[in-house]
Amino acid sequence: MAGESPESGKKWDAALYDAKHSFVWERGADLLELLAPQEGERILDLGCGTGHLTAKIAESGAHVVGVDSSPEMIAEAKRNYPELEFIVADAREFRFEKPFDAVFSNAMLHWILEPERVVQSVSEALVSGGRFVAEMGGQGNVERLVSGLRRARTAIGVPVEAEYNPWYFPTIGEYASLLETQGLEVTFALLFERPTPLEDDEAGLRNWIRMFGASFLAGISPDKQEELIFIAEQQLRKELFREGKWHADYRRLRIVARRTD
Ligand code: BEZ
Repeated sequence: MAGESPESGKKWDAALYDAKHSFVWERGADLLELLAPQEGERILDLGCGTGHLTAKIAESGAHVVGVDSSPEMIAEAKRNYPELEFIVADAREFRFEKPFDAVFSNAMLHWILEPERVVQSVSEALVSGGRFVAEMGGQGNVERLVSGLRRARTAIGVPVEAEYNPWYFPTIGEYASLLETQGLEVTFALLFERPTPLEDDEAGLRNWIRMFGASFLAGISPDKQEELIFIAEQQLRKELFREGKWHADYRRLRIVARRTD
């Protein structure tokens, strides 16, 4: 999932996402070890995007349902894996009649600025003892990228509000407390640096900004957007470009919790 909050109504370019941003699910693949899906389990993949990790979960023999708020992503997921079940739904208010043994989520939760509602929906979707296994941006995620984008906006005369933040990047303590308020007991939590090489060499940063940082371009003419991206590249090159590639300064929060009641 990419760009603005999935609830903002932004349309995703699912083909571009698959073609140039495969690191999103490739890097999420080892999260599946924490999920450890079992044959016959019922598993929800929340924020499934184009369905690649959903398909990996299904290889275990679990029955998996992929959910995403973007109709474009779900259409692409259905094209990729017509044998699997995919549904358009909002992570803040999805409801299923039959509960799940596990809810899995990779690289989606930071897009939603109402995490309380998401966690409540997740908890309600689980059986008693069911597990929640998730990875998202954690506190300090993309700090340098954001700082470069802010400086570039200022340079072209359109600064962002000081407190502006399109994403939710919590600390372990913050997110664990939130889970506990919804009857989810945290059994594992890790915040770690994961500098992530972006695809397409020199074009990597501009691809990332266009796909994921669209809110920093909003309200700016196409010419000025180009200027902003050019300045951001200049500002960030020293910190984030090495060995012929741009590297996003990702910090990941991994969490496993189980429903206790
Ligand atoms: C992330 O996966 O951490 C991320 C992706 C796009 C924008 C912000 C964060």
